[in-house]
Amino acid sequence: MNNIVLTGFRATGKTSVGKALATKLGYAFSDTDRLLCERLHAPIADIVARHGWPFFRQAEAQLLRELASMTHTVLATGGGAIQHHAEWSLLRTHSYVVWLDADLATISKRIAADAASAAQRPALVQGLTAHDEIETLLEQRRPLYAAGSDLRLDTANDDPETLAERIVEQL
Ligand code: S3P
Repeated sequence: MNNIVLTGFRATGKTSVGKALATKLGYAFSDTDRLLCERLHAPIADIVARHGWPFFRQAEAQLLRELASMTHTVLATGGGAIQHHAEWSLLRTHSYVVWLDADLATISKRIAADAASAAQRPALVQGLTAHDEIETLLEQRRPLYAAGSDLRLDTANDDPETLAERIVEQL
């Protein structure tokens, strides 16, 4: 397969697994969040604060369309990129998609522990506690991740190297 695309909720290790996997395969590594920040010259929190989520989502969808022509790349995607149905289908035509999953408690714990990134994770749903937001979105998105991927890996107990190795074994 030409490319490997990693999807899954925030804090499931897409970037760290992606980098380890790219090294193993000798592929380039890209990250949609990083590309968007470079393109818009601002961190995600600032983009969302200034322009709102719809603007961010539009830019994300446009980027996915452009990435349809990538080759030999491991691409880590933002947790909400799976919602762009048409762009996701296009990406899938030449990519093997891996869903990195974890249970609610693990994701909540990782997000709470990563104080440095907390400021870079603007609320996705207003008026909910962090825990309830994760629970609500996981419920909404799990069917999308399931339908939009070729392989699901539970990331709760394994390190990025091991997970990257598992992916290589499946290719
Ligand atoms: C989002 C996840 C983030 C980032 C943005 C929106 C989401 O990416 O794209 O804050 O909707 O779940 P990570 O999954 O890499 O944290």
